[in-house]
Amino acid sequence: MSPDESRQITIFDTTLRDGEQSPGCSMNLDEKLEVAQALADLGVNVIEAGFPITSPGDFEAVREISRTVSGATICGLARCHERDIDRAWEALRDGNDVRIHVFLATSAIHREFKLKMDKEEIIRRAVEGVTRAKAYCDNIEFSPEDAARTEIDFLCQVVESAISAGATTVNIPDTVGYATPAHFANVISSLVNRVPNIDQAVISVHCHNDLGLAVANSLAAVENGAGQIECTINGLGERAGNCSLEEVVMALRTRGDYYGADTRINTPRLVPTSRLVSNITGMVVQRNKAIVGRNAFAHEAGIHQDGMLKERTTYEIMRPEDVGFTHTDLVLGKHSGRAALADRAKALGYHLSEDQLVVVFEDFKALADKKKEVYDGDIAALIEQRKSQIVDQWQLISYQVQATSGQAPSVTVTLQRGDKEASKKIDAGDGPLDALFRAIEEITARSVVVRDFRVQSATRGKDAQGESIVEVEYNGKTYRGRGVSTDTVEAGTRAFLNAINHIEIGAAEQSQQEPTV
Ligand code: KIV
Ligand code: ZN
Repeated sequence: MSPDESRQITIFDTTLRDGEQSPGCSMNLDEKLEVAQALADLGVNVIEAGFPITSPGDFEAVREISRTVSGATICGLARCHERDIDRAWEALRDGNDVRIHVFLATSAIHREFKLKMDKEEIIRRAVEGVTRAKAYCDNIEFSPEDAARTEIDFLCQVVESAISAGATTVNIPDTVGYATPAHFANVISSLVNRVPNIDQAVISVHCHNDLGLAVANSLAAVENGAGQIECTINGLGERAGNCSLEEVVMALRTRGDYYGADTRINTPRLVPTSRLVSNITGMVVQRNKAIVGRNAFAHEAGIHQDGMLKERTTYEIMRPEDVGFTHTDLVLGKHSGRAALADRAKALGYHLSEDQLVVVFEDFKALADKKKEVYDGDIAALIEQRKSQIVDQWQLISYQVQATSGQAPSVTVTLQRGDKEASKKIDAGDGPLDALFRAIEEITARSVVVRDFRVQSATRGKDAQGESIVEVEYNGKTYRGRGVSTDTVEAGTRAFLNAINHIEIGAAEQSQQEPTV
């Protein structure tokens, strides 16, 4: 079947809402704006930009994104509560293509234990929620949360009532990732066959990945009549995450012969967008992750390499360039100019303002003096390093380390916040990094538990930059930090400080937060 004859599936991206709910993945406003712009460039149809009632940060993000990002519908989430819906509309009202997404749980478990409501009350509240949202805007999505575990007769009733009240999309979430493909196919086909007004709304699906079946379940739903898939970049999301956008989109594109369906996604933007989200959230993409993992197109076995050389399609069902892997990894050197850097940054998925370009270019020149060859990974790392230096939080001014095997290390760290500088000397610790982390904890008065610490090279070669990711726990919440340097101790120190800076931002926001889903 040619792409022109294919049924078009709407791609609803929830990286900025469900994705951001995954532990340690919170983003600041600038980061959210950058991701939203990248999603629009990727060609997603709908961007769920946040859940405005939950925090001033979410409200601001939805408001700014709906005002400034064009080319996609911008959506805000709300429970079926008057205050939620009003707040979502307040955030969306200045946008010219917006959607309100209201949800209410419907399964017996949620009705009995979470909501303490009977079926009649659920239907009444769902209808009230949709009706209130509809008074503000035409484009309304309704989700019966935990739909996959809801009795099918009741689910049909709720969906019918929501459509009658004005829902234009009915989203069927598998909130806890319990469904299997045949089960979920049956849920969707039951709705298609039994809800009398189903033709007045688009059926959407929102699958979580607890059993690793989110993509398979979403595809089964498309086969049975779903017209919208909710998904996230790199499969981010609550717990094991959501349906991965890149996987579901490439499954539809590669197996168009079978599904007879396609999306408008500009697939060569998949890898840059995946890298951008990974860099911003600190959630590293596993090497063998389908489509966007570093090894997704690497052929190691001799027989495979031989086959590939004879005919690529022997072992490759997609071309790496179709998902955004480039062969031109070696890009710039010390004679490259600002325009070349700006060009490369754009190709990698970054939108740099003029001011940002000026500072990143300075960093690039300094790095090009130290390293002969500057790769894509180096450029991405430099940009991320700059972006993670959060204004008005702690900055690393200097550190000294003295380490001798068999003896406790001695370190001194100097940090700056605003116009205040503070230093701390520590003569203890399990190695220099542990001592550096302790010194930072003392200066910032934030005591954390380090849950994960990794250093990997940003590119290849002996002079490669080290890229460090640190995950810490503070007051029961997870925060990530990232640091880059040609010196791995400095990369680790910067990553730890970056995590502390995320705590500072979180602390400022937390006082005003409401509970999320
Ligand atoms: O998983 C879920 O049920 C959700 C809803 C809010 C759609 O995220
Ligand atoms: Zn979800």
